[in-house]
Amino acid sequence: MGIFLILIVAIACNDSKTNTGDNGKNYESKIDSIINIMTLEEKAGQMVQYTSGWDVTGPVIDDNYEEYIASGRVGSIFNAHTSAYNRNLQKIAVEETRLGIPLIFGYDVIHGYKTIFPISLGESASWDLDAMERSARIAAEEASAAGLHWTFAPMIDISFEPRWGRVSEGAGEDTYFVSQVAKARVKGFQGEDLMALNTLAACAKHFAAYGAPQAGRDYHTVDMSERVLRDVYLPPFKAAIDAGVRTFMTSFNEYDGVPATGSEFLFQQILREEWGFDGFVVTDYTAINEMIEHGVAKDLEGASELAINAGIDMDMQGGAYLNHLIELVDSGKVKESQLDEAVRRILRIKFELGLFDDPYRYSNEEREKETIMKDEFIEAARDIARKSIVLLKNDNNTLPISESKIKNIALVGPLSSTKEVLGSWHASGDYEKAVSLKEGLENNLPANIKLAQTEGTGFDTDDESGFAAAKRIAAQSDVIIMALGESEHMGGEAASRTSIEIPGNQMKLFNELKATGKPIVAVLMNSRPLAISELDNKADAILETWFLGTEAGNAIADVIFGEYNPSAKLPVTFPRSLGQVPIHYNMKNTGRPIDHDEKYTSKYIDSPNDPLYPFGYGLSYTSFDYSDLSLNSKKITKDDELKVSVKVENTGEVDGEEVVQLYIQDLVGSVTRPVKELKGFKKLMIKAGQTETVDFTITEKDLRFYTKNMDFASEPGEFKVYVGGNSEDVMEVLFTLE
Ligand code: NOJ
Repeated sequence: MGIFLILIVAIACNDSKTNTGDNGKNYESKIDSIINIMTLEEKAGQMVQYTSGWDVTGPVIDDNYEEYIASGRVGSIFNAHTSAYNRNLQKIAVEETRLGIPLIFGYDVIHGYKTIFPISLGESASWDLDAMERSARIAAEEASAAGLHWTFAPMIDISFEPRWGRVSEGAGEDTYFVSQVAKARVKGFQGEDLMALNTLAACAKHFAAYGAPQAGRDYHTVDMSERVLRDVYLPPFKAAIDAGVRTFMTSFNEYDGVPATGSEFLFQQILREEWGFDGFVVTDYTAINEMIEHGVAKDLEGASELAINAGIDMDMQGGAYLNHLIELVDSGKVKESQLDEAVRRILRIKFELGLFDDPYRYSNEEREKETIMKDEFIEAARDIARKSIVLLKNDNNTLPISESKIKNIALVGPLSSTKEVLGSWHASGDYEKAVSLKEGLENNLPANIKLAQTEGTGFDTDDESGFAAAKRIAAQSDVIIMALGESEHMGGEAASRTSIEIPGNQMKLFNELKATGKPIVAVLMNSRPLAISELDNKADAILETWFLGTEAGNAIADVIFGEYNPSAKLPVTFPRSLGQVPIHYNMKNTGRPIDHDEKYTSKYIDSPNDPLYPFGYGLSYTSFDYSDLSLNSKKITKDDELKVSVKVENTGEVDGEEVVQLYIQDLVGSVTRPVKELKGFKKLMIKAGQTETVDFTITEKDLRFYTKNMDFASEPGEFKVYVGGNSEDVMEVLFTLE
């Protein structure tokens, strides 16, 4: 039995500082007392994290984790969940080690724990920050009831790279947008108070620039200027700190020749000195060890030295700190005070979570049973899933399908009946409970419509043996719904592709079905932007449904049958072809902007420059008209607020939600500026036939960027304001910053 309890009681009695009405949040003197009695081994132990052996996402270097816990050489376990399982592991830490310091349990609760929400990229398409906060909140409720303290989320890596499988885990390509999403998700996971039983510590990852791997290959080299790093890739991380995020994770990639996990620039200079972050930093999986392969350390001791000097507090799975910190201190290469600082940051979060009050407080089986997959969570999952579906095309009002026009539906495609709709990183999500598209359509089928279904083909095959059956049911139908795209395993970590086309012979089957002359609705499921020009040409309607999670089928049925009017907008650009990549709406102009009458301008000879679908794009079953864009003043000073207002009319026949987007352009800067930058958005319901006035406020702060001298400042001059329903179809007006 550890001396933990005796210790804490003793500290509490002697420590007037911690009982002075600060709600127990000043733990520093308690932490001092603990650090004072810790051995070097115990300090190093707090800085070690191991996987429990479930859900392993990398090499298992060492699976003696129970033995390590018992000997006080582990401070955290990940991939262990359920309250009973974690209680047992916690018991080892609390009862068998000298100090009895509780473990912190982490897990990748990315878009749900048991009730699974849309993949993060998909959910971001809702542009509904309250919905995103709510799904993170529910994820935290479930996970914290299942013995967990800490989620490795949100993932807030900006990416312009559709080949990269992990584009599915972020919130898209835009810095401002991802920053807002970062705040919403951190708030959702962490709630108001980490001490509450239903909250998790969040983790901003991956720091930094992981979303820009060369050639879109996961873990590959990143090379960008500090200006781009600071302007584009870092702000979401700062936003996460502003929202109170308590931990950070390092990224696998190098930045400026230094692997992030050994980067003093990223962690000491930016994270701690410039941003004052006082939570702790965990490495990504074996990222210290990988510094040997990167070629900046000759052995694990050297790699550990780089990591601790960079200010990295906890070693995920690598055994590097476990095996080398002590000798590094003994040999004088690392100061013991560096370990003290890391341990302090780790213990701080353990205190904030209440683990020193009661190490088992998150292991209550009763609460777990009552909480997991509650009805209200499932309802929220359906609602958030349908909010995430983007209507990309809808010729002749093919959608919604109603019994007045349609009697028979043919449902085909490799995604038509699969329950693999949870998407990558679905934590403990249960495929059995997931609603397939077929089940969703059947559950919600209007009385007079009949549904026939067959796959027709697989994802990545040239086998055409199922085509005949698909064509047969198509011939007997009034409308074909083809569910096509990628399998869920084609996205996420270590799932980069060199093609972003729809794989296998799915388009061949699509074309043969098209030849029946029946209208075709394409229901896309995919983890990344796909190049779907041919589909866009030929399908009558297209729904982008990503991977929508537990309630996928019901949510898609709600949109198909008109129970829900689509309101989502793309958080990433969809290119026409891979050759256009990287393509994003906020690019620079070049010195020779495209001019079709001039040969020597910046363009392709075999493709337009513009994407298939721009950032912010998405249709509705109604239509919106923008008018009367106005400013309260044509000139502002640094202290003024610029009021922008626009009228938006619902010109269709049904009520609908619109995401009104505001962009700015700084026309002349000391360095080149993007052609547009999102600076605000509002999602609002507008009743059919009604007009709403939408207002935004811009201040000088919104106009800042890293200037030629690398000052974060605005520069006087002219700016354009653009407002519209996507990044291309906009109205514009000029103003001057004096
Ligand atoms: C590796 C991934 O890059 C990271 O995002 C994840 O949190 C860890 N593995 C733990 O599973």
